[in-house]
Amino acid sequence: MRILFLGDIVGKPGYSAVLKHAESLRKQEKLDALVVNAENASDGSGLMPRQYKRLLEAGVDAITLGDHIYRCKEIIPVLETSKRMVKPANYPGEATGRTWTVVETPAGPLGVISLLGRVYMRPVDCPFDAVDAAIEEIGDSAKHILVDVHAEATSDKQVLGRYLDGKVTAVLGTHTHVPTADAHVMEHGTAFICDVGMSGPYDSIIGRDVRRVMQTTRSFEPSHFHVATRDVRLCGAVIDSGKSGLATSITRFELAIED
Ligand SMILES: [Fe+2]
Ligand SMILES: [Fe+2]
Repeated sequence: MRILFLGDIVGKPGYSAVLKHAESLRKQEKLDALVVNAENASDGSGLMPRQYKRLLEAGVDAITLGDHIYRCKEIIPVLETSKRMVKPANYPGEATGRTWTVVETPAGPLGVISLLGRVYMRPVDCPFDAVDAAIEEIGDSAKHILVDVHAEATSDKQVLGRYLDGKVTAVLGTHTHVPTADAHVMEHGTAFICDVGMSGPYDSIIGRDVRRVMQTTRSFEPSHFHVATRDVRLCGAVIDSGKSGLATSITRFELAIED
């Protein structure tokens, strides 16, 4: 199975680029599955139902989110019924959304799980227990499983990656919006990267207008952080895996979008 996973779609620049390129990427990269993290799609925070719909129409198979999952409250009814989108599996049981999903691909079923980290983040339930439960529930329904680890600290992601080595196809980091240079297949066959980077404007502070963020950081006066516009790139990782569900390779993916 060949999967492309794209990191946090940020605002209109990232969202439009995914819509525009999803179909050609599927063909050019000979993808069986396209999975995206869309937690920042709506003006930098959250995902709107119409965006959800258009991403699927454009050729996205499954969507993960993160700490901004409920920022657009309109998405909550969609999360209640959608089989193409998951909530962080270590959110409380009361939180709306499913803890895992399985989508059909030409190379067989693919399980998708999202987890939130616990270092420098709002307290959440144990990601280790949550992912164990999700993998058990997926059971025989999918040999291939992609786990999005949405976390701030590289160490937090590495521990989860090592814990899941040999149990899933890939553990792919999101949330920091900055790609890391550590993509590799671990000892027991799970592909790993600390952060795939965002799909959005890189002439920015993690996707936001530099001047606004600078002013607010220095003055402590709050302001709205506009989504930046320049140097848009789609960033992610391409993972190949065999029939066993374990990875044979992981390659960082980066596509610069021309203005
Ligand atoms: Fe994000
Ligand atoms: Fe995030």
